Amino acid sequence: MAKSRLLITGGSGYVGSFAVRQLQDKYEILVIDNLLYGHRQAIPNTPLVELDLSNYNRLEAVIKDFKPKAAIHFAAYIQAGESVTNPAKYFLNNVGGSLNLLNALVAAKVKNIVFSSSAAVYGLPKKIPIPENSSLQPINPYGESKLMVEKMLKWYSQAYGLNYISLRYFNACGAEPDGSFGEDHRPETHIIPLLIRSVLENKIFTIFGSDYQTADGTCVRDYISVLDLAFVHQQALEALFEGQKNKVYNCGTGQGYSNLEIVKSLERVIKKPVRYNFGPRRPGDPDILVAGVEKIAKELNWKAVHSDIELVLSSAWKWHSTHPQGYSD
Ligand SMILES: NC(=O)c1ccc[n+]([C@@H]2O[C@H](COP(=O)([O-])OP(=O)(O)OC[C@H]3O[C@@H](n4cnc5c(N)ncnc54)[C@H](O)[C@@H]3O)[C@@H](O)[C@H]2O)c1
Repeated sequence: MAKSRLLITGGSGYVGSFAVRQLQDKYEILVIDNLLYGHRQAIPNTPLVELDLSNYNRLEAVIKDFKPKAAIHFAAYIQAGESVTNPAKYFLNNVGGSLNLLNALVAAKVKNIVFSSSAAVYGLPKKIPIPENSSLQPINPYGESKLMVEKMLKWYSQAYGLNYISLRYFNACGAEPDGSFGEDHRPETHIIPLLIRSVLENKIFTIFGSDYQTADGTCVRDYISVLDLAFVHQQALEALFEGQKNKVYNCGTGQGYSNLEIVKSLERVIKKPVRYNFGPRRPGDPDILVAGVEKIAKELNWKAVHSDIELVLSSAWKWHSTHPQGYSD
């Protein structure tokens, strides 16, 4: 039997490339990516159209020609800090690009979409772990842009029958266990790659802030392995194909680790001390972000199984120590 076709935007980026590898046995995949932040080497054997979502006419033509059964929409700019100083960049790409994609999907009569949303839609949550029905008050344009797309999806489903599942990822992390593929954001803003690189380069790692309202004073986050995140897209697609629709789920482990605990866990993994100090807070960092995970466990039958923090760190260590410059493209 012919495989169903799947369009994946942003499929050469970090999370998208892991999803491509997870899904390529089951689906015939076409990736759309402008390669601005992605890497061809992350998905060496997957058909890719180098295209920016701002190019509506070509986007619609590619989708009409490929006729996918569903789309997974990873493509976005992701730096929350940059979004505060350059909101235009984020609204134009994350909202404008998504609007073009939704319109092209409707024009091509594609009925299903899985959207990469973010814990950033919650802003400063009042309740931890954060349930999906918490108030949505993003504190930066990046989070706002994700919330705007979630809202567009709601109206598009009502008007045009475009069924969606929005997945609010917490902190994506880790690499393939053998270190063959991993995280390569340029610039890098995530703690695990920054920490590992500072150790590999024999530098002192700076933890941002030590006076948060947490047990050890450093920020607490929910670290979800990219392997688990890749699999949740498979579950979400199957749920859409079985008739579930218009859902929003947190994707996390339900457990938080402080920045200091991440440093200490890395010391256990690499069996040597890590040199670190404390710097000032980074603006806009909530004290604690931990996902409520009951809804996704119950409705999508998904929970994290690859997100043990030492396994995650060990895979990331393998990736960075064997690819100190990341992908070569
Ligand atoms: N990494 C995380 O921890 C995290 C957490 C929450 C949500 N997310 C969301 O997950 C998605 C993937 O994140 P990531 O870490 O893999 O980011 P990434 O930057 O590695 O991947 C994004 C990809 O989208 C492409 N892209 C961006 N704008 C495009 C456009 N206009 N046209 C075509 N391609 C475009 C980039 O070139 C890149 O390959 C994003 O939507 C992000 O907001 C990520």
